[in-house]
Amino acid sequence: MRILAIETSCDETGISILETRTTAEGISRGAHIKVLANELLTQSSIHASYGGVFPTIARREHAKSIVPLIAHALTKANLHRPLKKARVLLPKEFRALEKIFHKEPELFATFQKELLALKIPKIDAIAVTAGPGLEPALWVGINTAQALGVLWNIPVIPVNHMEGHIVASLLEPTKTKTSATSYHIVPIYYPALALLISGGHTELVLIPRKGMYKILGQTRDDAVGEAFDKVARMLGLTYPGGPEISKLAEKAPHTTVPRFPLPRPMLKSGDFDFSFAGLKTAVLYTLKNIINPTEEDKACIAKEFEDSATEVLVTKTLAAAKKYHVGEIILGGGVTANKKIRDTFQSTIAKELPNIKLFIPNRDLSTDNGLMIGIAGLLRTKTSKNIRADGTLRLAKK
Ligand code: KG4
Ligand code: ZN
Repeated sequence: MRILAIETSCDETGISILETRTTAEGISRGAHIKVLANELLTQSSIHASYGGVFPTIARREHAKSIVPLIAHALTKANLHRPLKKARVLLPKEFRALEKIFHKEPELFATFQKELLALKIPKIDAIAVTAGPGLEPALWVGINTAQALGVLWNIPVIPVNHMEGHIVASLLEPTKTKTSATSYHIVPIYYPALALLISGGHTELVLIPRKGMYKILGQTRDDAVGEAFDKVARMLGLTYPGGPEISKLAEKAPHTTVPRFPLPRPMLKSGDFDFSFAGLKTAVLYTLKNIINPTEEDKACIAKEFEDSATEVLVTKTLAAAKKYHVGEIILGGGVTANKKIRDTFQSTIAKELPNIKLFIPNRDLSTDNGLMIGIAGLLRTKTSKNIRADGTLRLAKK
């Protein structure tokens, strides 16, 4: 089975082409998945001047890059075969595509120009992020996926982006005879607990068994990644702020008492909810109270902010792990790229819950990518003819 996956939920256009010789069941038992292509185009420099992602601009940029990126991925996968004469669509096919792209005439034009000129590649299904995310951005991926489904006469599988982040954490590179990258999924034992931390989400999710989710807690206001991005902006750093905050925090002098103490919001709330808006405001007031903050002052604030967010995330996750007697903790989402958060989870779990297995995604699979959507698609396999973008798609009801 070969699958082409599309990710456009935020500001990364991700296309991957994966191959496996087995079924979804085989994959969850650890079979190999070969990566034929994994292409990523980030828009972050375009959004940087706005200090965050602008949905209509994200949509425009995805629409500009998605078809060339698909063509590029097909070339990488050795599936790009130009025809001597471009294919002519049947009236039925043309009507179906026209309907799909009725709001995107330019994308329709590029789609026809590039993809009708190619032989139908040996691909069995398309996987696409259906949500959660920015709806205008999601639609570009969904429309392109559905159009490819018509053009190549193959099914389309809707994928939940957050499930993608969970599976990204379970991937382990496999050694193969060839130089091709390949992964397998490390089987997990249930119940497991996932902490999903990204630009739009902060959620603690219990996974009682495969594919079943129960939301134990979530943020009541800003997501942790969003707080990183907003605090970075206050400190004069560029978007995306997460990596910039980490870099600045490393420059802070080592002290036992923080120069500018910040709160640990909801640390002792007794539930599994989070709140990061207050922490962000505390940074704002701290900065207002310093006349001409030096680079070192800013580094101290960045470090204290990172320490606060880390302490809350680690403490609540460990409390949930104890309460629900889980054997495994899975971290997922862009914020897992943060070194402080990765290291603190590792050291605290080793000390306090040494029997628990911790899964953290490889750094290059922490932030959004097409590969995780392809793997989630291979595992889900449920197809749909009428996928709709759902900005607030949930893994489960709370
Ligand atoms: O999962 P992701 O790529 O996109 C969403 O689904 O939202 O996560 C993006 C978020 C951004 O808020 C970004 O600042 C944050 O992940 N991020 C980080 C780091 N790298 C990315 N946050 C803290 N430290 C990092 N090193
Ligand atoms: Zn994400």
